[in-house]
Amino acid sequence: MSRIVTLDEFIIQRQKDFPYASGELTGLLRDIGVAAKIVNREVNKAGLVSILGVANAENATGDEVQKLDLYANDKLIDCLKNSGECCGIASEENEGFISIPSIESKKAKYVVVFDPLDGSSNIDVNVSVGTIFGIYRRKSKDTGPCEMEDFLQKGSELVAGGYVIYGTSTILVYSTGSGVNGFTLDPSIGEFCLSHRDIKIPDRGNYYSVNQGYYLKFDVEMRRYIDYCSDLNLRLRYIGSMVSDVHRTLFKGGIFLYPNTRKFPKGKLRILYECNPLSFIVEQAGGKAVTCDMDRILDIKPTELHQRSSIAIGSPGMIDEMRDFVQKYSMPTPYVENGASNGTPA
Ligand code: AHG
Ligand code: MN
Ligand code: MN
Repeated sequence: MSRIVTLDEFIIQRQKDFPYASGELTGLLRDIGVAAKIVNREVNKAGLVSILGVANAENATGDEVQKLDLYANDKLIDCLKNSGECCGIASEENEGFISIPSIESKKAKYVVVFDPLDGSSNIDVNVSVGTIFGIYRRKSKDTGPCEMEDFLQKGSELVAGGYVIYGTSTILVYSTGSGVNGFTLDPSIGEFCLSHRDIKIPDRGNYYSVNQGYYLKFDVEMRRYIDYCSDLNLRLRYIGSMVSDVHRTLFKGGIFLYPNTRKFPKGKLRILYECNPLSFIVEQAGGKAVTCDMDRILDIKPTELHQRSSIAIGSPGMIDEMRDFVQKYSMPTPYVENGASNGTPA
């Protein structure tokens, strides 16, 4: 029987693959693993304690905040503050970024972005939720506090990205830019153990994943592509928790779409906390991730922390096929005299 490899062992073995093999990123990833275990413990016992439900607050982008969102946010912030390797944090649940003072004058080189709990509207009904994270090397000088430019980097500049899914089992999937590996939490020993080595996404899959309830709100090219998926008898799966939908897409193949809608004309999902880390993972596994205008997600240069985007992510063969629909059915943006345009076909 082959010996199990824990997440900590694997991270240390892989340290040589990191662009800056100094051990700092290793420490940071381990700290995120610890935070994930703490969040997992609370998610698992959520039905037993009065932590379920809405916290009577709205987050920076106006969503209803669940109590577990706040708990997960606090735990991740605590772990990263004490890590010593992280000089700043940007979270979906905080309006601005958090600057972390150096510990024992150590100059931390990384910033971390995260969605502490993705899919949180599903918590009360026991559906899988997750944590999504990305790690960037800071751009500003390490002699002072972190700055906005450290967070507003393209996804292509991620040094690591990953997610944890709290599902039928708890799985942590991450990449440092040389492939993707998955680790399943063994509750009996409290360790994430290597369970999915060098994950590759299938070129095509039998699933498409989109909130079909918004069908009439989508642009025509997306409607035609969705019709095509339906004509192919692909199976529709939509959990409403992006991390879970992308996890299935990664393993089974398929496509996940969150196009522009009238309510979210620039897409709903956040570039920093959701789109970029998951696009990084999917690309590392051989897949593709683009906006519904076919621009590569990882090439977007964000201009604000909570910026949103449309997204199509998944099997490369299916994203390429979607491109044909975008090219064929996209309407040119109407010309408006004063230069303003709402992008809606006239
Ligand atoms: P969060 O729980 O972090 O706010 O994210 C919810 C997101 C994403 O996980 C999911 O794919 C999407 O919102 C669902 O949106 P709709 O309910 O509009 O389909
Ligand atoms: Mn989310
Ligand atoms: Mn969230």
